[in-house]
Amino acid sequence: MNFKRNILITGGAGFIGSHVVRLFVNKYPHYRIINLDKLTYAGNLANLRDVEGAPNYEFVRGDVCDYERMGELMRTYGIDGIIHLAAESHVDRSIEEPFAFAKTNVMGTLSLLQAAKLHWESLPERYDGKLFYHISTDEVYGALEMGEGLFTEQTPYAPHSPYSASKASSDHFVRAFHDTYGVPTIVTNCSNNYGPYQFPEKLIPLFINNIRTGKPLPVYGRGENVRDWLYVEDHARAIDLVFHNGRVGDTYNIGGFNEWRNIDLIKVMIKTVDRLLGNPEGHSDHLITYVADRLGHDLRYAIDSTKIKEELGWEPSLQFEEGIEKTIHWYLDNQEWMDNVTSGDYARYYERMYAGR
Ligand code: NAD
Ligand code: DAU
Repeated sequence: MNFKRNILITGGAGFIGSHVVRLFVNKYPHYRIINLDKLTYAGNLANLRDVEGAPNYEFVRGDVCDYERMGELMRTYGIDGIIHLAAESHVDRSIEEPFAFAKTNVMGTLSLLQAAKLHWESLPERYDGKLFYHISTDEVYGALEMGEGLFTEQTPYAPHSPYSASKASSDHFVRAFHDTYGVPTIVTNCSNNYGPYQFPEKLIPLFINNIRTGKPLPVYGRGENVRDWLYVEDHARAIDLVFHNGRVGDTYNIGGFNEWRNIDLIKVMIKTVDRLLGNPEGHSDHLITYVADRLGHDLRYAIDSTKIKEELGWEPSLQFEEGIEKTIHWYLDNQEWMDNVTSGDYARYYERMYAGR
């Protein structure tokens, strides 16, 4: 089959990546979508069961840090667009093992950038019609005080955690490749995503599962930290729009204008899970357990996404009340997915399946 475009999506077996892959495979049958993923603990091909047989979809297991392999992939598939999501993404893990974050997030991004640069420069048309689109986070901007305003694209970078430091560094490399060599790049910085297929180490899926199973809910510090939550499919829609219509060399913030104090969000989750499970109101309130705070815990994130709204016409489609109810429903209805992920069965399965490759 002759495809109009060959697009490499990295980290497509993860939470956000799987939604992006699904959207592109279904919406663009004339594009070939190559999903490159290392399948770390966070990567799960069960997130993509519904598209794995599509004629325009291919999965490749590999590590973005493997520079030679990235070059080979660029040439074999004639990649003309990259949406780079592969990363170590959990702040708590970055506090425990910062090297893994520097390796994948910084060196992995650099390896992919260099492979793309060399491949595209070898072609007669060079960078025409090419794009390296890097998915980043609002955490690179540091933390806001309560009532301080919002992160804009002009906010100076001030990362605090090893995770955000590694993402900030990768963003700088992406911009450097644009400014130095002319590689066509775009960076977007998004706020906290929620929705189906998120690994249950992150607040929302972890707490939904713990409420369902009657386990303690470990609230860091006093639960007063604020996050700006966006439904993951709205992020995927923004990525689609930026990939096709974004200005090369530019940056866009993506967020929900939807700030919640952790403790207030946790109370909404408890109430909703109890209602959906038929428990009396207040049944699971006792599970709230205040624990030691996360080291260097950023107080507040909040994104100003006016630019992407005004320039590209994107805004969130879901109200939070609707999105969180839909999300809770999904986790309660997909117990098998949750049990597989929490038991580690899927990780053992992929180790066997790819042994020796
Ligand atoms: P995730 O942890 O769910 O998924 C990451 C994916 O990358 C996994 O499938 C994993 O197997 C893969 N991966 C990890 N290391 C790799 C490597 N060396 N080579 C190839 N693949 C590798 O992450 P997520 O929450 O979906 O985040 C995706 C991206 O979006 C990340 O870059 C993250 O920084 C960014 N982001 C996340 C959020 C959020 O709220 N989750 C918000 C803004 C930005
Ligand atoms: O802002 C975007 C970022 O959002 C992404 O770049 C990261 O990849 C993503 O993991 C997320 O980071 P956070 O640290 O904000 O998400 P997390 O779900 O880990 O935590 C959300 C808030 O809840 C945070 O203030 C810490 C708190 N928390 C988290 C966990 C896991 C708890 O109180 N208890 C917990 O057990």
